[in-house]
Amino acid sequence: MKPREIKRGVYWVGAIDWDRRLFDSLIPLPDGTSYNSYLIKGSQKMALIDAVDPTMKEVLLEHLDELKIKTIDYIIANHAEQDHSGAIAQLVEKYPRSKVVCTPKCKELLIALLMIPEARFKTVADKENISLGDRTLEFIYTPWVHWPETMVSYLREDRILFSYDFFGSHLATTDLYVSDEGQVYEAAKRYFAEIMMPFRATIEKNLEKLKDYKIDIIAPSHGPMYDKPEFIIKAYNSWVFDKPKNIVVLPYISMHGSTRLMVEHLVEALAEKGVTVKQFDLTVTDIGKLAMALVDAATIVIGTPTILVGPHPNVVYATFLANALKPKVKFVSIIGSYGWGGKAVEQLAAMIPNLKVEVIEPVLCKGLPHPADYEALEKLATTIAQKHKAEGFA
Ligand SMILES: Cc1cc2nc3c(=O)[nH]c(=O)nc-3n(C[C@H](O)[C@H](O)[C@H](O)COP(=O)(O)O)c2cc1C
Ligand SMILES: [Fe+2]
Ligand SMILES: [Fe+2]
Repeated sequence: MKPREIKRGVYWVGAIDWDRRLFDSLIPLPDGTSYNSYLIKGSQKMALIDAVDPTMKEVLLEHLDELKIKTIDYIIANHAEQDHSGAIAQLVEKYPRSKVVCTPKCKELLIALLMIPEARFKTVADKENISLGDRTLEFIYTPWVHWPETMVSYLREDRILFSYDFFGSHLATTDLYVSDEGQVYEAAKRYFAEIMMPFRATIEKNLEKLKDYKIDIIAPSHGPMYDKPEFIIKAYNSWVFDKPKNIVVLPYISMHGSTRLMVEHLVEALAEKGVTVKQFDLTVTDIGKLAMALVDAATIVIGTPTILVGPHPNVVYATFLANALKPKVKFVSIIGSYGWGGKAVEQLAAMIPNLKVEVIEPVLCKGLPHPADYEALEKLATTIAQKHKAEGFA
């Protein structure tokens, strides 16, 4: 896509990655992604915000040539991660007068990650301003969204907030602004779940900090821009601040079908009691979907057969991930089938120290579930439904 003017003298100059299917060698990208960069032509100074993934740096350089940019004064690095800093090393060579503007922590990281010479940096303090002539950029520290060095840039006269990953979505689209709110809500929630959820506490503080700013446009570095910023701010507020909902997330594996029978029975019993269940067979699950379900869930029930004395390795992976993502779940239980004995429950329970949860009595059965096992599952469903009700999770 060609450079696109957002406002007079402010351009989108990013790259759209339609075909990328995996991010950080971990996260599925069903809809591709984009690496947005923005150029601001002030009456005296030229600023570029963020600098695309290394794989697409030629796209950014071509955009700048198309706009006949001979000088860049400031290369603003809101975030040091390579998907937004990838082209900075080339840019500082091509534009010898340019300075990389960032937080001191970001400078340290960019030197380590990209070997950019120290002399090329200009560090800024929290809330420091830089004048571009007729326009002013203010830098607002937003640490730990999702790295320690992150800041947003606010173009005061145009009320545009350049927010790097904050409020972003992995979505390749020709739309400059959100057109399909449902689709973007889904993509942004997936992004929040996978990248932002572990940092809920600091995101909460950063959302508070941004309340003082009048924002007409949020311009993230992934996905479309928001010309109705309240849409995404409201969504973030609900993901961060709202109580968990009356939802059970049930990731499981079954090798020979016994655990699967338990899962099916529990799901039915919970549904009958008015609890929403999201069931994930971990042999086929998109882990992004699982992460997204964890954003609102009150309870996780993990289903696993015993294998080699412990839980199934796929279940270990999902449990490790859930612990790392630190969702706001309040209860955990474990169900599963075994043949002769093992430590599946103990091993799984030891894997979730980050989750501030009450563990509800697990239900294990030997081989196929028997009537007493189904009864125990009914009881588990009743306990979960009662606990959700007592906590007011609707
Ligand atoms: C590769 C493999 C390893 C197993 N290791 C154990 C074990 O260490 N301890 C145990 O109690 N059962 C073990 N079992 C037996 C299963 O836990 C048992 O068959 C269980 O009912 C399987 O549940 P599923 O039908 O949900 O897969 C193992 C089974 C397999 C296939
Ligand atoms: Fe990032
Ligand atoms: Fe990013």
